[in-house]
Amino acid sequence: MLSMADNELLTLTGPGTAMGNLFREFWHPVALLAEVSEADAAPKRLKILGEDMLLFRQTDGRLGLVEPRCPHRGADLFWGRNEECGLRCIYHGWKFDVDGNCTDIPNMVPGKLRDNFLKSVRIRSYPVREWGGMVWAWMGDPAQAVDLPRVEWALVPDSHRYVSKKLQECNWAQALEGAIDTAHFTFVHRNLTPPPMHLSVYADKRAAWIDADGAPYYEVLEHDAGLVLGGARRGDPGETYWRISQYMVPNHATAPNAMPGETYTAQTWVPVDEENCWIFTTAWNPDRPLNEEELFRYNSGRSVHAEVDENYVPLRRRANDYMIDRDAQKTVSFTGITGLSEQDACVQDSQGRIADRTRETLTPSDEGVVRFRKLIMGLARDLAAGERPQAARTPDAYTTRSGGAIAAEGTGLAEVMSDRFGDPRGVISDAAD
Ligand code: FES
Ligand SMILES: [Fe+2]
Repeated sequence: MLSMADNELLTLTGPGTAMGNLFREFWHPVALLAEVSEADAAPKRLKILGEDMLLFRQTDGRLGLVEPRCPHRGADLFWGRNEECGLRCIYHGWKFDVDGNCTDIPNMVPGKLRDNFLKSVRIRSYPVREWGGMVWAWMGDPAQAVDLPRVEWALVPDSHRYVSKKLQECNWAQALEGAIDTAHFTFVHRNLTPPPMHLSVYADKRAAWIDADGAPYYEVLEHDAGLVLGGARRGDPGETYWRISQYMVPNHATAPNAMPGETYTAQTWVPVDEENCWIFTTAWNPDRPLNEEELFRYNSGRSVHAEVDENYVPLRRRANDYMIDRDAQKTVSFTGITGLSEQDACVQDSQGRIADRTRETLTPSDEGVVRFRKLIMGLARDLAAGERPQAARTPDAYTTRSGGAIAAEGTGLAEVMSDRFGDPRGVISDAAD
């Protein structure tokens, strides 16, 4: 349970808020690379951290993230022409490059006044980078920009990675909490029919262990970029089935499902505003290209990758009750909703646009959620007191893996991580570049 003030501290990321300031100390994915593959194409509207922006690729291939307001008389540059290395306002033709410089003022005669305007007029622009199939932006003080986090999915070849994005209609923090709370899997994602055997040699046993134990024991370890969150369930006699996630500040998590050899999954929650977020979901395999079966599953929208429309809005969403099928809820699945991603969205959205954490009743299996809040709110408070987040300056600490493991009963999380990933915190030092 949080106080009202702490709930606001945790959830609000607009300009000038404490959490908003913390978010602006880190790079964030703002779009899929595929959305801006073409130079001189129409600019894309984006709202990130409560700020309206335009993303465009200019003639020479450089990307820009700029404010949409033309400084002449305020027309929206969204309607502008993306031509000859800049975005030209259609009202009176002022033109701006990806760095926000004004490069043409055709409604003034050449001379000193126009030269002064060309030197002094600017629009706000943020540095952007292409990284791991996504466009990342630095929305903080440019003088403080750090290196990009070396998340493993950005280090593998393109053929080893699949990226998607979807809009989620709730605050970023509760959506992230849903991912690091591995206990919910027993309920939200339960199938009432046997799982398809072909999916994995582990599939049937995993489902049985998850179904049988809805109260996993939690152990949490700290590292330079965040937390290792282990949830342990009873396995076969004498064994424990661990499902382990990574949380990396401020808004990344890796999933707990992958057994050895399987493909990893990560998600990043980027606030649109207080009541919506983009979820970027990545599947990657460090050892091989993704195979046809995996790509078919991801593209069909029945997995952690949602089925979305051309604006990345899920087809099954708030407005249509996630197309819940109450008959299927009796016989097919615990929720009656199709798609892991949509099942998650339903319960997370249902907590409210911003979850009211002043009225919660937490249990020991919420330990991961509690530790996440404590860590991120502590960093926001530290920054308000003048201390910048160290994690932003340790990009290698973001090269982490997480997944499932089977261990002898009584084995601690650090030992399980060492056996499974070769490091007690799951930090991978020999990742490809
Ligand atoms: S408002 Fe943009 S050029 Fe006049
Ligand atoms: Fe889930």
